Amino acid sequence: MKLIILAGGGGSRLFPLSRTCMPKQFLKLGNSDSLLTQTVKRFLPLIKPDEMLIVTNKEYIHHVKTELTACGAGSAHILLEPVARNTAPAIALATKFCQDELGAGDDEVMFVTPADHIIHPIDIFIKNVRQAADLAAQDRVVTLGVKPDKPETGYGYIQAGQVVGTGYQVASFREKPDRETAEQYLAAENYYWNSGMFAFTCGCITEEFREHAPEIYQLMSASFKEVVNQFDNMPNISIDYAVAEKSARVVMAPLTAYWNDIGSWDAIYDVLDKDYAGNAIKGDCLPLDCANTLMLGGDRLIAGIGLEDVLVVETNDVIVVAKRGESQKVKDVVAELKARG
Ligand code: GDD
Ligand code: MG
Repeated sequence: MKLIILAGGGGSRLFPLSRTCMPKQFLKLGNSDSLLTQTVKRFLPLIKPDEMLIVTNKEYIHHVKTELTACGAGSAHILLEPVARNTAPAIALATKFCQDELGAGDDEVMFVTPADHIIHPIDIFIKNVRQAADLAAQDRVVTLGVKPDKPETGYGYIQAGQVVGTGYQVASFREKPDRETAEQYLAAENYYWNSGMFAFTCGCITEEFREHAPEIYQLMSASFKEVVNQFDNMPNISIDYAVAEKSARVVMAPLTAYWNDIGSWDAIYDVLDKDYAGNAIKGDCLPLDCANTLMLGGDRLIAGIGLEDVLVVETNDVIVVAKRGESQKVKDVVAELKARG
């Protein structure tokens, strides 16, 4: 089995800590390891470093190299995209590398994972991965699904159908529904979140590209080197829209380990340790009579007085102060800043 770690996303939801030059996968967020390093370490009991591929943008090569070496995975392969084209082309590139450079046959299983999630405990997770890999070996597109507990609109939703081995046939897959639809899915109880982790064989995903994303299929029929050269001609599309929503052979393997994609400051608040008053504090901070706040200090002291349910994130050029529950709107701040130029 080959492991494909997708680590090329730009990520703006954790602004101001995540920037184009420092996206979420390289942040440490209260842990001594970055999310990328945590991802690599999570798979080390199952997959040797030289069977791991980290697909990323050429801008991030230094971050990736340093982190792989530091966690003993220096022999992992780093594939560099000349431009970002989202996850479907990244997976096509990795498939090509496995086939051309690592001698993978059609029946080689690839396990694909994002690089920016928190998951534990590792032993349960590894069991989930093994089950997904077994299903993938039967020529299916496997997604790992998580039981939802809120109508999140930033995720893909899987409608579970008939039982297939240790998983479920996917009756439908809907990427990032609107709020009303997400609420219906949550109430229906047979919907799961797509964790963003997939497993399939090289042959199966190539077939799926041929059927549902012919532009990608066309470009990946060249050699690996040529695919890199032609990469800017790839369509900009995620694997969720390109394949998962359309394919008839998607099955879901349940992810029973704790999973959090920490896509917002509210989610960071949820995962960090709190003091007796419910404050999650990192860095140089002085909360006086504060309750249920998140304070992430950088170079300067954050002094909070009488705050409740507030998020404060400080960096040397930007301070974000937000009401808890509203942090998804940080992406609107980023959009506004981009529009201003
Ligand atoms: N190499 C590479 N190139 N990696 C990329 C690119 C790219 O162009 N774009 C994104 N990635 C990486 C990100 O760094 C992340 O690790 C992973 O691919 C997923 O991309 P996101 O941009 O974080 O996707 P998302 O969170 O909006 O949605 C996906 O994940 C959700 C769960 O967290 C989807 O799969 C959803 O269906 C899913 O629910
Ligand atoms: Mg994500």
